[in-house]
Parts: sequence; structure tokens; C-alpha cells
Amino acid sequence: MSDLNNDVLFWSYKLGDLELPNRIVMAPMGRSRADEGGVPTPLMAEYYSQRATAGLIIAEATTISAEGLAYDLMPGIYTDQQVAGWKSRTTRDGTSPCSSRDRIWLIEARG
Ligand SMILES: Cc1cc2nc3c(=O)[nH]c(=O)nc-3n(C[C@H](O)[C@H](O)[C@H](O)COP(=O)(O)O)c2cc1C
Repeated sequence: MSDLNNDVLFWSYKLGDLELPNRIVMAPMGRSRADEGGVPTPLMAEYYSQRATAGLIIAEATTISAEGLAYDLMPGIYTDQQVAGWKSRTTRDGTSPCSSRDRIWLIEARG
């Protein structure tokens, strides 16, 4: 039987200036849980809270402009409401050992 204390997956890790409490890292994925205006929702807060014991969460594709919107209900970070939505999501678990980083979504100009 495995002993969690001796399992390297659960050992802390220093990644640059981040002190990760364990080595479990969540890959970025599109989740389509923002509202129609790209504002992060309480559902997103719940989703990330449920996973907050991961060592690191790379959040999700987040657009920096309306032109970068790639699919419905994708979050943005270019309006005051979107920024406020992200803050309410990231501060909900202020005591969590989890660090989250947003993936900035860049769409190439075409045509
Ligand atoms: C911004 C972004 C969004 C992504 N969205 C998804 C997704 O919705 N579904 C998915 O399976 N992989 C998605 N990926 C790829 C995953 O992060 C991951 O690389 C992939 O699932 C394969 O896992 P692996 O890298 O551990 O092999 C996304 C990657 C990026 C950078």
C-alpha cells in the first residue's frame, strides 16, 4: 500500500517564485462557464474551489479583447466587470494553498 507522506507527488515544489504545496498541476482547458459578457461566474468560483488543493491550476483560455473571443461563454479580462469577476473568483479561497494563473489566449489575425 502506498504511503502518501513518501509519495513524491505530494511533496512541495518551488516553481520560480511559487511555492507549490504539491506537484499536482491542472492543465489549461476551455470550460465555457463565463456569462454572455465574458464575466467569470459563481459557477467558475465553485469549479476552481473544488480543485483548489491542486499544487497549481493553470486556469483557462481567457481573451484580452473582443477580437480574441474563440467560443461561447469564454471568459475575458479586458473590461472592468470581467476583472472584478476574476477577483471575486480568485479571492474566494483566500486561505487556499492553491495558486492560479490565467492562460492568456492569443488568436492570430487571419485574412
Ligand atoms: C488555452 C488552452 C485551452 C485548452 N483547452 C483544452 C480543452 O478544452 N480540452 C482538452 O482536452 N485540452 C485542452 N487543452 C490542452 C490541455 O491543456 C492538455 O495539454 C491536453 O489535454 C493534453 O494533456 P497533456 O498535455 O497532459 O498530454 C488546452 C490547452 C490550452 C493552452
